[in-house]
Amino acid sequence: MKVLITAGPTREPIDPVRFLSNRSSGRMGYELASAFAKAGHEVLLISGPTALDVPGRVDFLPVETAAEMHEAVAQHLGKMEVAVFAAAVADYTTSKVESQKIKKSGERLTLELVKTPDILGSARSEHNYTGTLVGFAAETENLEQYARQKLQAKACDLIIANDVSQPGIGFDSDRNEVLLVYPEGSEALPEASKHDLAHQLVQAILEVHLHRSASGA
Ligand code: PMT
Repeated sequence: MKVLITAGPTREPIDPVRFLSNRSSGRMGYELASAFAKAGHEVLLISGPTALDVPGRVDFLPVETAAEMHEAVAQHLGKMEVAVFAAAVADYTTSKVESQKIKKSGERLTLELVKTPDILGSARSEHNYTGTLVGFAAETENLEQYARQKLQAKACDLIIANDVSQPGIGFDSDRNEVLLVYPEGSEALPEASKHDLAHQLVQAILEVHLHRSASGA
């Protein structure tokens, strides 16, 4: 099967030396890419900047910004049977990138931010994607409720929700604990290394894919 995975943070430039970003290390997405490849699938990993090595037998497309990730996904999504969006995409970017380094002047500096493209949300609505669509939800409260809203709003088959307010899991950690949110129910996977969790997630995603295929979706 052909599987697309997004991973890592995006970097939204402010000026030639500064950017807006977040604490995603890319580990969750890279472990998923590696687990899908080990299970014999053809994987394209589209990733923002990380310090990680690209897993073996994985095609790799590096990007920096949310706009670049959107463009890369748009180019490749149509060929994919499964798409998993693990990237922590910046929701806002600067309205203008300064061509020169911003000099330190007054006590305050105001940046105007504008929304980035919703890459996961655009899969069905903009690209008419018909494959199995899996998103993540990074929440600090109301985990299941917010994840279910994302599942419906973005027409996903599965949302993998993690509580990123918990120390030791989620962003920039080797471990994670997730809630699988399906249209018809949910299932908690207990805390484990991202490596072990990725293998469980591959199984869960493949079951969703088989179920969709059997029902003619
Ligand atoms: O990278 P690690 O350090 O290993 O950390 C893993 C992780 C915490 C980043 C990962 O498990 C995770 O939760 N990834 C999603 C982070 C996120 O941006 O969640 P969100 O709830 O803001 O977004 C919901 C979904 O929409 C996600 O699938 C996200 O990839 C996608 N999205 C969000 C905004 C946007 N502009 N485009 C998107 O595609």
